[in-house]
Amino acid sequence: MDQRALFIIFGGTGDLAYRKLYPSLFRLYEKGYLKENFAVIGTARRPWSDDHFHEVVLNAIADDGRDVERTNTELARKFASHFYYQSHNVDDAEHYVNLKNLADKLDAKYELNGNRVYYLAMAPRFFGTISSHLKDQNLLTENGFNRLIIEKPFGRDYKTAKELNDSVSGSFAEDQIFRIDHYLGKEPIQSIAALRFGNQIISSLWNKEHIDNIQVTLAESLGVEERAGYYETAGALRDMVQNHIMQIVSLLTMEKPDVYDASHLRDKKVEALNNIQLYSVDEAKKNFVRGQYGEDANQTQASYRDEEGTDEHSQIDTFVAGKLISHNPTLEGVPVYVRTGKRLAKKTTQINVVFKNVDTDIFHNVEDNDAIGLQDNVLTIYIEPEMGYTLKLNTKYGNQGYNINPVHLRYRKTPEEKAKIPDAYERLIHDALRGDKTNFAHWHEVSRAWKLVDVIREAWDSEDANFPNYESGSMGPKDADELLTNDGRNWVFNP
Ligand code: BG6
Repeated sequence: MDQRALFIIFGGTGDLAYRKLYPSLFRLYEKGYLKENFAVIGTARRPWSDDHFHEVVLNAIADDGRDVERTNTELARKFASHFYYQSHNVDDAEHYVNLKNLADKLDAKYELNGNRVYYLAMAPRFFGTISSHLKDQNLLTENGFNRLIIEKPFGRDYKTAKELNDSVSGSFAEDQIFRIDHYLGKEPIQSIAALRFGNQIISSLWNKEHIDNIQVTLAESLGVEERAGYYETAGALRDMVQNHIMQIVSLLTMEKPDVYDASHLRDKKVEALNNIQLYSVDEAKKNFVRGQYGEDANQTQASYRDEEGTDEHSQIDTFVAGKLISHNPTLEGVPVYVRTGKRLAKKTTQINVVFKNVDTDIFHNVEDNDAIGLQDNVLTIYIEPEMGYTLKLNTKYGNQGYNINPVHLRYRKTPEEKAKIPDAYERLIHDALRGDKTNFAHWHEVSRAWKLVDVIREAWDSEDANFPNYESGSMGPKDADELLTNDGRNWVFNP
């Protein structure tokens, strides 16, 4: 069904709008989720004409790989004609009067029924000002919906996140706020619930009796690229663990919701995060390790401290590994090992569920009669770039005796299947249009995640690290391996 709405994009000349928002809106238009009853106002400080804005939008579609061929089509031009540009200073209350006039005009022209989506594609320090002016200057409509989409970072610790949240919640209620975590828009992440609760063979084993440990790896091969300014204030802990990793951990450890919908799912995720053990500073020191990349073995890649825009004595983490403990009843005590880092051996996002070993010694070597050791069953969920599953099973090895060797049952989405999957932003914008909050982060999730992460930060801030401590192209510092070997375990993904 098509939706009608006016989008007001703050940061309309920015990178996010260009790379993600305009192409995603175009795909929704192509697929008929947006038809004639929509309009987009792009705002930013610089003075652009509508014509220039249309060119930018067409270029954005062209640069978005999949749609190159189609940019000159009638469809793309018709789509771009729904875009209007308004030069705007977010701090100036009077500018909102012009914005309101244009919004009302477009509402009438495109018959939008007062439905508005405000997309804040700007630095969070502007969120409070924009949302309060939207309210004071009467942009919020009475007759339709008013939804605010915001992007991370939601603060840099619990305190600043709360201030930020308070500043937007003066104008928007929680059910009107859509906090984007783009990992929640990824198909295989959304599929975790289907896998866990839609299969007898998985759901009956997904518990502390059968799972030994869970491992979550978000490895990137790229370095900090052009984002040193931001990254120096964030580091991997804030950039990846507080949001993406905590969201994934909540989906992996939550109890079964009564219904798979936004409110039931949210309750279970909040409960799961509340049941992750909150460490003391000393426990955080023991259970979390940090790293920062140095050069690669051939010295062709610069160390983090030599990247453009970083501090030469930077203490920022480009790698994090840690152990979280779930106290949810089903997985009580099961360790969830997490790690993420830049400049690692390979770009891969994957989850490994390691099952407990079968306690049996019935199999013996024919030659010496020694008991044959069995390997762990492991279920691997591939998120990106591969999408699919591998299940490792022990089977008889094809020889005369009775040796046992593991085989891997493998399913991967084909390139054709992957091409049909909507991009995370396309999906999330569509969800926001439909008012579906299933794949957005609730304040209770965000705030708990900050509390879990703040302790780790505090532990690290109390002493200087000896950086750099891992080579570019490796899988991080050796402390990250020891985190598991000390528990008698190993990382499953170990290229
Ligand atoms: C972003 C981080 O949230 O996620 C980036 O700010 C990171 O630093 C990116 O590179 C990774 O996302 P993806 O979808 O490429 O795994």
